[in-house]
Amino acid sequence: MQCSMALDRMEDLSLKQTMVPFESCEVEGIPLTKQMHSIWDRVWKFKARPDDLLIATYAKAGTTWTQEIVDMIQQDGDIEKCRRATTYRRHPFIEWIIEEPPKTNSHLIMKHPTGLELAEAMPSPRTIKTHLPVQLVPPSFWEQNCKVIYVARNAKDNLVSYYHFHRMNKGLPNPGTLEEFIEKFMAGKVLWGSWYDHVKGWWKAKDKHRILYLFYEDMKENPMREIQKIMKFLDKDMNQELLNKIIYNTSFEIMKENPMANYTKDFRGIMDHSVSPFMRKGIVGDWKNYFTVAKNEKFDEDYRKKMADTSLVFRTEF
Ligand code: A3P
Repeated sequence: MQCSMALDRMEDLSLKQTMVPFESCEVEGIPLTKQMHSIWDRVWKFKARPDDLLIATYAKAGTTWTQEIVDMIQQDGDIEKCRRATTYRRHPFIEWIIEEPPKTNSHLIMKHPTGLELAEAMPSPRTIKTHLPVQLVPPSFWEQNCKVIYVARNAKDNLVSYYHFHRMNKGLPNPGTLEEFIEKFMAGKVLWGSWYDHVKGWWKAKDKHRILYLFYEDMKENPMREIQKIMKFLDKDMNQELLNKIIYNTSFEIMKENPMANYTKDFRGIMDHSVSPFMRKGIVGDWKNYFTVAKNEKFDEDYRKKMADTSLVFRTEF
């Protein structure tokens, strides 16, 4: 185990509120928050059930979108049922734990149920979320032969989205400048580790396990086709009318206004949507607004080396 402490977040917040300094700890070389690290034994020993569905992604690859699509399919397009609870409470985020800092004039720490607590209390069939790299997925998921949907997003858009998410989420370390964050991302020194290893690791695993490997860019390009893939994977059949309803209700514009899917109800003391909304832009190619020509060349050169040993191909624009 290795832990390190970053004081920058605390300094950053000194005018607004007091918060414990950010500490990250590594599990098998993968940076996780100290709180996640503290429950790691229990996460690793988590008992998956055969009918669990796991939605796995690198953070900011389109998890919430996929969760909404899956839920709509599972609830046969019933919007009311899909709005029964927030995304966080509908689909336990298995490794996640966070305590919100006390609000000004209050000593109460806001406790959210952990992903483990939510999962253990949930009747089957469960849909569970994770950002873990494939080698850290609790072994019971493989022992039970659970189905997994993995969604990958091109590195540059994923990075930009992750950068903005760090800015608005006080539960994550201070990203520094975009230039600094790009360096950390390239080095894999960010929470949940290297994007490159993550997408490659899951890509390999799909040949051994029941994994549907999807791409954010494909979902943007042709949501009907990708939703149909998910339906088939989940052994569901639907008529065109229902399919259209799912496409509509899982569009960026509708989800942005859906309080059960846009993270405005949970983590209120942690996520500041006025800095950058959780539902930010939802597009392919936004990286072009952030990467300078020089940064882009350096990134691409490094990318080619890191991705030389895989058949995985991403689209960064249409
Ligand atoms: P941007 O920050 O680029 O806008 P995650 O759910 O894994 O945290 O991913 C969040 C990213 O997915 C954000 O990307 C968010 O806007 C985008 N997103 C969420 N819902 C979406 C939808 N229905 N269509 C397209 N993108 C969506």
